[in-house]
Amino acid sequence: MHILAILGSRNPEGMTARAMKSLLEGAAEAGVTSESVYLPLIHIEHCRQCNDDGWGVCLKEGRCVIEDDDFASLTEKIRAADAVVFATPVYIGEPSESMKAYMDRLRRTARFSEIGRRVTEKKPAICISVAGGGGANANMCNGIMERACMKCGMDLMDLVPVRRQNLDLKCSQLKIEGKWLVEQVEK
Ligand SMILES: Cc1cc2nc3c(=O)[nH]c(=O)nc-3n(C[C@H](O)[C@H](O)[C@H](O)COP(=O)(O)O)c2cc1C
Repeated sequence: MHILAILGSRNPEGMTARAMKSLLEGAAEAGVTSESVYLPLIHIEHCRQCNDDGWGVCLKEGRCVIEDDDFASLTEKIRAADAVVFATPVYIGEPSESMKAYMDRLRRTARFSEIGRRVTEKKPAICISVAGGGGANANMCNGIMERACMKCGMDLMDLVPVRRQNLDLKCSQLKIEGKWLVEQVEK
């Protein structure tokens, strides 16, 4: 089994990375491999809303017209993975800009055409939101990622809100969650 970890933080030593690493540590103990992708460190452009009606090739072809960035290769990694975990810092009550940019395009390519749906449909997924400042709005942030995952037809298994104040506790829980994810996917 292989897990793809997609992070909306650019800091491999930050709180979002700590939360993700805890889940992956638990999963690794259950014998699975993983790859972590830090979205701000790769090249993901914004949706261009190509046509006057707001649509583009995403509607019928399940792909994005922008082919000179990392969107397609990352989405291929989702297709190849057995499960995907999204983790983002909470920025002004929402997922980070890099996470939003990626999910905005993913939901378009993955929802409306048969070809696109095959990439994400029934893909086990977990979302983690880390409110590392005052600690507010992790649930609201998870709600936004939940909607995107549901639009993509993913099998959303959990939404984990984390606050700066409970980071240590949540990391312990996420380690258990990593093992649990493996059990759920493999059964
Ligand atoms: C633009 C911006 C907006 C932020 N908004 C919030 C917020 O609404 N609530 C909160 O608890 N923390 C907020 N923070 C703090 C981040 O959640 C915190 O920096 C993040 O969890 C830690 O980032 P890291 O995971 O990359 O270490 C904000 C930070 C930035 C840069």
